Amino acid sequence: MPSPLASRPIGVFDSGIGGLTVTRALMERLPFENIVYFGDTARVPYGVKSTATIEQFAQQIVDFLMQQEVKLLVIACNTISAVAANKIRARVSVPVIDVIEAGARNAVAVTQNDAIGVIATPTTVNSNAYARGVHALNADARVYSQACPLLVPLVEEGWLDHPVTRLTVQEYLKPVLAEGIDTLVLGCTHYPLLKPLLAQEAGSSIKLVDSAVSVAEQVAATLSELGIANPQRAEPDYRYYVTDIPLRFQTVGERFLGRSLKHLEMVQL
Ligand code: DGL
Repeated sequence: MPSPLASRPIGVFDSGIGGLTVTRALMERLPFENIVYFGDTARVPYGVKSTATIEQFAQQIVDFLMQQEVKLLVIACNTISAVAANKIRARVSVPVIDVIEAGARNAVAVTQNDAIGVIATPTTVNSNAYARGVHALNADARVYSQACPLLVPLVEEGWLDHPVTRLTVQEYLKPVLAEGIDTLVLGCTHYPLLKPLLAQEAGSSIKLVDSAVSVAEQVAATLSELGIANPQRAEPDYRYYVTDIPLRFQTVGERFLGRSLKHLEMVQL
């Protein structure tokens, strides 16, 4: 007898559109799960905002998703995960998976020389959340973090293989590569779209950790452990809620998601 929770959707949220990279990984890993996505497109970016503001915004989003009766929450935004994950966990009764915990776990599993680089937004880097996540699993690991504030706008612009982006990436990677890292965590929702460029610039000896894939694995494991995976083998229901629908949203969103974006609705929190 399947749990009554099984057919409920997974709630995924982000400061904006970037969390669609995590949603994409979830859809690929768990093709029969219903998903409700929330992107705070009116107030993005969060990566340069204060902790108090991000906590307040995150609470509003979580309350909205809980009203949608989600069975599990995925914090797809690294910045929200970095500063508000504990508060969110204390607020809800459903399991909460966040990108940082998943990414840190994956990085620790992958590194062979215990030297891990992290690239992320300034707020994520300042929070030290990746370093804490890694050290909780491996006290000997060294974590070298680099804030990359210019990468989010470059990705939103669609400059995924542009000389300006390449030069920017080279500058940002210089200090972390100098530390002899063998693993680089893509600590921001937008960076998976830069994977080919980042792989070229980091070099073939460095393994890239994409938190989106790590999260999807962790969600799959949690659903199965709790016996709340959807047993239905029907076409799943995907709904997208945003606080604004800016120009080019559809185009950029579909690039992030890797498929067409239907059932999009604008809401106010
Ligand atoms: N979603 C954010 C993150 O993963 C990037 C965009 C923002 O700054 O809000 O850190």
